[in-house]
Amino acid sequence: MGCLCSRKCRMGKLLAWLQMVLGFLVIAVSAMSLFRFYSAGFFWHNDDICRHFYRPANAYVGFDLKAMSERFEEVLDKLDQLQEKLEATVQKIEKNKDGLSKANITMLEHKNYLEVEVIRPLYSAHIALRQIRIPKAEERNSTVKEDPLINYFIVEEIRKYIAMKKNRFGKTNIYGSEGIYNTIGHTCVLMKKELEEYMDYDVGAYCNDDWNLAQKLMISGCDPLPRRRCLTRASKLFQKPYAINESLWRIPDGRNVRWSKYQCRNFDCLSSTNPKRGYSKCSGCFEMEKEKIKWVGSSSLPMDFLIKDVLDTKPGEIRIGLDFGVGTGTFAARMREQNVTIISTSLNLGAPFSEMIALRGLVPLYITLNQRLPFFDNTMDLIHTTGFMDGWIDFQLMDFILYDWDRILRPGGLLWIDRFFCSRKDLNDYMYMFLQFSYRKHKWILTPKSADEVYLSALLEKPPRSI
Ligand SMILES: *[C@@H]1O[C@H](CO)[C@@H](O)[C@H](O)[C@H]1NC(C)=O
Ligand SMILES: *[C@@H]1O[C@H](CO)[C@@H](O)[C@H](O)[C@H]1NC(C)=O
Ligand SMILES: *[C@@H]1O[C@H](CO)[C@@H](O)[C@H](O)[C@H]1NC(C)=O
Ligand SMILES: *[C@@H]1O[C@H](CO)[C@@H](O)[C@H](O)[C@H]1NC(C)=O
Repeated sequence: MGCLCSRKCRMGKLLAWLQMVLGFLVIAVSAMSLFRFYSAGFFWHNDDICRHFYRPANAYVGFDLKAMSERFEEVLDKLDQLQEKLEATVQKIEKNKDGLSKANITMLEHKNYLEVEVIRPLYSAHIALRQIRIPKAEERNSTVKEDPLINYFIVEEIRKYIAMKKNRFGKTNIYGSEGIYNTIGHTCVLMKKELEEYMDYDVGAYCNDDWNLAQKLMISGCDPLPRRRCLTRASKLFQKPYAINESLWRIPDGRNVRWSKYQCRNFDCLSSTNPKRGYSKCSGCFEMEKEKIKWVGSSSLPMDFLIKDVLDTKPGEIRIGLDFGVGTGTFAARMREQNVTIISTSLNLGAPFSEMIALRGLVPLYITLNQRLPFFDNTMDLIHTTGFMDGWIDFQLMDFILYDWDRILRPGGLLWIDRFFCSRKDLNDYMYMFLQFSYRKHKWILTPKSADEVYLSALLEKPPRSI
């Protein structure tokens, strides 16, 4: 076959070959450069994490990072040289195109060239690479896996946090896991800069006054946030809270709140009449006169159900529940008076909602919309929702949230949708979402909010699910 090939054709074959080799090398070299970046110690600079990750107890014993890095350097040099040589040859051929097509290149010369100039250096680079020992868990069934993010973050505390913590004495838990993984929300990867700022502190020292940065990270999807090992700042003048027989309905002592990241500096300033109060959701929530009439007062509005009426649908059965929304805990306070324990979700959206709920003697659950609720299936007697889950929410997100609520609500438990509002044109979609679970309707009220918006209030009961 080779003999039948004309000279020109042979030349063409050689060129094509060289091009292929070059293409391969470009890929190899770029991959290598990336690795050089890592192995040169830029990411691996921290000996501590290495010791931590490759300590003698685990599968990576004896792994020598320095050796690996040197080996990579060697291979990279070889590949660089080879690439240069091949490129120079190609250029030479290009230049003497005409002369060469007349000149003869024998198969033997071709073979010699490939052998000496290409295959030999490639082979030695290949061997050099083969000799590198890449860390790998030795046991087949080991749950020890390299954390894919371990080299992504530079700040030491993040790396320490996400590195898997092996159980002591080689113990495994009931699911066979050999260690504990600390988790972070995947959006933390997109918010690398902010997260690294958040995690940049001295262990054991005071944290920065940066709860606002933490909240921004969480709401943007970096949720869960990593834990930190620094001391959280507290108000200088923290007073003991009011006794429980007073705290439920009294504005707390302003000295118990760190105000530095809020627009207001005291509770009076949070009044809904103050245009500079710095928050918009639940604007009357810091005025006790307004709060006191909620769910018990003689509201003439049909969409406002009374706590008494709701509890009367299931006398004595409603004992624990979740209030999902933005507020200062008034619903939980009223329910507490009925001997019902309510956990109130909270975020500090421009005002100290969490602090307020806690200072009233109630339980704030600091949680975003991103997260699965930290309750087990079929446990809650009641979910009450107001003021947060409104018509701005994406349909699919809403659907995931509703299924999560359905999960934690027990059979016979109540879902109280309180003043949900949306635009008229979206109403059918949202109604479908609420109705898809085939809950029993105790109450279902639609009333206009404005020309193109409507309120929906409903009291629904989860049916038994005996499957
Ligand atoms: C090329 O090789 C052929 C024989 O294979 C020979 O006849 C010819 O003279 C050579 N040409 C040159 C330019 O060397
Ligand atoms: C791995 O686990 C499978 C079953 O989970 C078992 O059959 C197998 O023997 C295990 N292999 C090793 C090397 O432990
Ligand atoms: C609250 O209880 C304490 C005793 O526990 C009592 O001295 C105080 O008067 C009570 N306050 C109110 C407003 O009832
Ligand atoms: C709540 O419990 C207390 C003590 O058990 C009881 O005295 C009170 O009547 C209960 N309140 C209601 C509304 O059931």
